[in-house]
Amino acid sequence: MRGKFITFEGADGGGKSTQVQLAADYLRQRGYEVVVSREPGGTPLAEKVRALVLDPELPLSNISQTLLYLAARSEHADKLLRPAVAAGKIVLCDRFSDSTLVYQGLALGKGAEEVNELRLLNAFAAGGLTPDLTLLLDGAPKLLARRRERRGVSDRYERQGLDYQHKLRQGFLALAQAEPERIKIINAEGDLQAVAGAVQRALDALLDGAE
Ligand code: TMP
Repeated sequence: MRGKFITFEGADGGGKSTQVQLAADYLRQRGYEVVVSREPGGTPLAEKVRALVLDPELPLSNISQTLLYLAARSEHADKLLRPAVAAGKIVLCDRFSDSTLVYQGLALGKGAEEVNELRLLNAFAAGGLTPDLTLLLDGAPKLLARRRERRGVSDRYERQGLDYQHKLRQGFLALAQAEPERIKIINAEGDLQAVAGAVQRALDALLDGAE
């Protein structure tokens, strides 16, 4: 039986990585075989691309960045994601194609035509793989920024300030509005357990509905 491909998305600092791990624990307790991965990354080559593209010392044009994210995605989809889903596993992925649409498109103010180009490029890179479910961890940038400061995290994107985080948030919400069946909005402002509970309910709805 085909497995499921579930992605986690959102602006920075929404506690995504932690929620991915908690979701994996939850699903394993329910008896599922779970694979956890992330983008950019997930294979040795894609992890190298990640180090490149997130290096604040290496300024990149938007197009170069986009192509690097897509190269990493192509490797990841080919070598890890598609085989795992085909083998019946539940694959949880921290970010995927929606991040490209938002970070390389909507948050930069790109218009419909350019965003559509990105959609085509995403489909090309992912070999047609699309998520069965996307959980959008959404919260007010100010609140999420405070969390990030506590974690001491800083990278190319996160140093761009609250305005930018607002644009990211709006971009993701626009995608969710356009595809409410696939993209479920999870309130990321609550404490860890409250957010994990909302994630679990969304997972149950997908998996129990599928049984
Ligand atoms: P992370 O911090 O959630 O691990 O993601 C790494 C950064 O990469 C994050 O700031 C978003 C960015 N990113 C893009 O800009 N485009 C993409 O396609 C992906 C997958 C990530």
